[in-house]
Amino acid sequence: MTVSPTAERPGLRSQRLNQITNEPHTKLDALVKAHAPFETQANFARFVVAQYLFQSELVALYNDAELIKIVPDLAERCRADAAKLDLGDLDTEVPAPVAGAVKSPSKAEALGWLFVSEGSKLGAAFLIKRAVGLGLSDTFGARHLGEPAGGRAEGWKSFTRTLDSLEFSAEEEADVEKGAVDAFVRFTVLLEQAYASAPELA
Ligand code: HEM
Repeated sequence: MTVSPTAERPGLRSQRLNQITNEPHTKLDALVKAHAPFETQANFARFVVAQYLFQSELVALYNDAELIKIVPDLAERCRADAAKLDLGDLDTEVPAPVAGAVKSPSKAEALGWLFVSEGSKLGAAFLIKRAVGLGLSDTFGARHLGEPAGGRAEGWKSFTRTLDSLEFSAEEEADVEKGAVDAFVRFTVLLEQAYASAPELA
């Protein structure tokens, strides 16, 4: 995702969100890799702790009746259960909630958070290939990185198509961007927390 210096604000909302999250995404990608999640199952388990915490904080949004009116298959897109099963596979305790989860966001803000959560399924295509090297798969230990029913590209396209088709006020436009940026900040906090609370990392 490179952005040309002359690129101003692109027309499609999803492209604008891509653009404003480009830098936090690059940083987060580097941070994930700095924790060497694919070196050992124990390292990977901490990454799953972060994923679980993030996904579990979004359960209320994925199941929100108003949001489901906008994205009908929203509830099925949630990966909190898959991440929880992965923790079990990896003999890792389900972590306690971490203070500071998103709470009662506006509709547009919630969609910004969901944009990030759904977008992270794209990077997951690369991550699951690495997880296979640890003996894990979409049915054991790395379920939450598995290909969604209907395909990754299709799931993403249908989500962004819907997001791009919504009529937003200027305030909602700012809210959706805030949600996306906040989601990256939050994942970063949870990732650091997950590795800091590692029981016995070699
Ligand atoms: C919590 C949020 C996210 C996390 C933790 C995350 C993590 C990652 C990581 C670690 C990679 C590198 C995979 C590799 O090189 O092996 C990656 C790649 C990628 N991610 Fe994300 N990501 C997140 C959100 C997003 C979002 C919102 C989008 C789309 C808007 C996205 C799109 C991509 C794409 C297309 C790739 C492939 C390589 C690239 O173009 O950089 N990710 N992601």
